[in-house]
Amino acid sequence: MKIFVTDTYEQMSRKAANIIAAQVQLKPNSNLGLATGGTPVGMYKQLIKMNEENDINFENVRTFNLDEYYPIDKNNDQSYYTFMNENLFKHVNINEENTNIPNGMADNIEEECKNYDNKIEVAGGVDIQVLGIGHNGHIGFNEPDGIFTKETNCVELTQTTINANVRFFNSIEEVPKKALTMGIGTIMKSKKILLLASGEDKAEIIRIMIEGNIDPKVPASVLQLHPDVTIVLDKKAAGKLSL
Ligand code: F6R
Repeated sequence: MKIFVTDTYEQMSRKAANIIAAQVQLKPNSNLGLATGGTPVGMYKQLIKMNEENDINFENVRTFNLDEYYPIDKNNDQSYYTFMNENLFKHVNINEENTNIPNGMADNIEEECKNYDNKIEVAGGVDIQVLGIGHNGHIGFNEPDGIFTKETNCVELTQTTINANVRFFNSIEEVPKKALTMGIGTIMKSKKILLLASGEDKAEIIRIMIEGNIDPKVPASVLQLHPDVTIVLDKKAAGKLSL
């Protein structure tokens, strides 16, 4: 694992954007695995700026998002489809047809999940997967469990995750209770992983993920087994590491 610690959230975001830009410069038709949530918003802002200044070209880039609530209409304000449009896609020269997010209204969930994994495979796999991390160690929506899930699947969200996401909705009742998520196996197949975390509230889970045992009760701990992981933290999130 390569670990970078920056002073501020803005610096963390810039570093992450530079890593993505370098990936796309070296391979213009990269497949980027993307995340939603608060953490990558600053990185997306930097990428938009770089795109305006012609420092990154999304023309031939394909994207695969980690997850989507279920059920949710893609045009709902809180869908991850809307999030990605608002925070990145509509501001850069990406071809909408090259963007992929699990369908939160799929009739047949199993088929949707299988097709999503197939689509990634047919595209040649994810070159670099951006991840945030939940306070309980989830990556994507892979919650603490007895086993590491393999493929894209439909999960019940834990109360911790529902509580953490209520900030984006009008009330707790509105937060969907399920989600479609890339499995741990799907994430681990990515050629590179870029995990970001900021803030003191993430310091404990970052310590456990990096310095603790590999345990499906801390889904992100599996990343210790991945051969190419870069972690970018602001100094608050790195505050409990014994590095
Ligand atoms: C988002 C995702 C989640 C978030 C995690 C952290 O697509 O899959 O795992 O990365 O919940 O969320 P924030 O960044 O809001 O703290």
